[in-house]
Amino acid sequence: MSAKVVVIGSLNMDLVTRASRLPRGGETLIGESFATVSGGKGANQAVAAARLGAQVSMVGCVGNDAYGVELREALLADRIDCQAVSTVDGASGVALIVVDDNSQNAIVIVAGVNGALTPEVIDRFDAVLQAAEVIICQLEVPDATVGHALKRGRELGKTVILNPAPASRPLPADWYAAIDYLIPNESEASALSGLPVDSLATAEAAATRLIAMGAGKVIITLGAQGSLFANGKSFEHFPAPKVKAVDTTAAGDTFVGGFAAALAAGKNEGDAIRFGQVAAALSVTRAGAQPSIPDLSDVQAFKTP
Ligand code: RIB
Repeated sequence: MSAKVVVIGSLNMDLVTRASRLPRGGETLIGESFATVSGGKGANQAVAAARLGAQVSMVGCVGNDAYGVELREALLADRIDCQAVSTVDGASGVALIVVDDNSQNAIVIVAGVNGALTPEVIDRFDAVLQAAEVIICQLEVPDATVGHALKRGRELGKTVILNPAPASRPLPADWYAAIDYLIPNESEASALSGLPVDSLATAEAAATRLIAMGAGKVIITLGAQGSLFANGKSFEHFPAPKVKAVDTTAAGDTFVGGFAAALAAGKNEGDAIRFGQVAAALSVTRAGAQPSIPDLSDVQAFKTP
């Protein structure tokens, strides 16, 4: 596979501790380990698309600090084009992550210079967008930038993917018409649609509502239950491969990057979803964000246990 995927979004340094369980409010726990790991939803999706066969360009901002240097080097190590990754005055984005013994996590992000990715910066790198086949956005950079990038992607006739993460509120109504594939998880689908999402039936109702709002097609990721695809005419449930989870950080990012890479390489939607799901399943068997993302040969060698 070698097709052009452009990811517009965040780069964060993840400060990861493991503890037997997540702390309650006001509580101090003794952690078991600590690591700094390259992450950020945008950068993770770029790494996933690149490891899974696409030619990738990243559009984003890092700070003029040590984390900024590391975050850029991590992308370059995966042969990602970083001409549109700007180094700006200020601190790089960080994510404080606790992972417990059940492989659940809690994350607090501080945007830092991810907030400096303005619509003007997107315009400055318009040639990068023009060269894309697929454009992916998430929500860890300013809303104005995401809206601008989605609409420019639509104007250029690209395949536009929005992973609305993290989302705790409805999206601006005028974004939907620019989105070919909206890929929320259950809580994001609920925040966007205003409907509870906790089963396949409720996911179908939320997907129907999101398509009525203007999204082209919707894929709701359901964790260990797989994902639900909706195209406005029918639904399809894709069960997830069964694996033993170690750390679910970046599983959603791996799915989105893998799905985009497969779509850009000409796979049909069903095969692209299955491919993204295998990649995501492999990622949860390993710790960390970018270090957990598999490459093409891992996915090709995967056999359901
Ligand atoms: O999706 C996982 C990512 O969310 C982490 O890498 C962290 O940086 C946060 O952005």
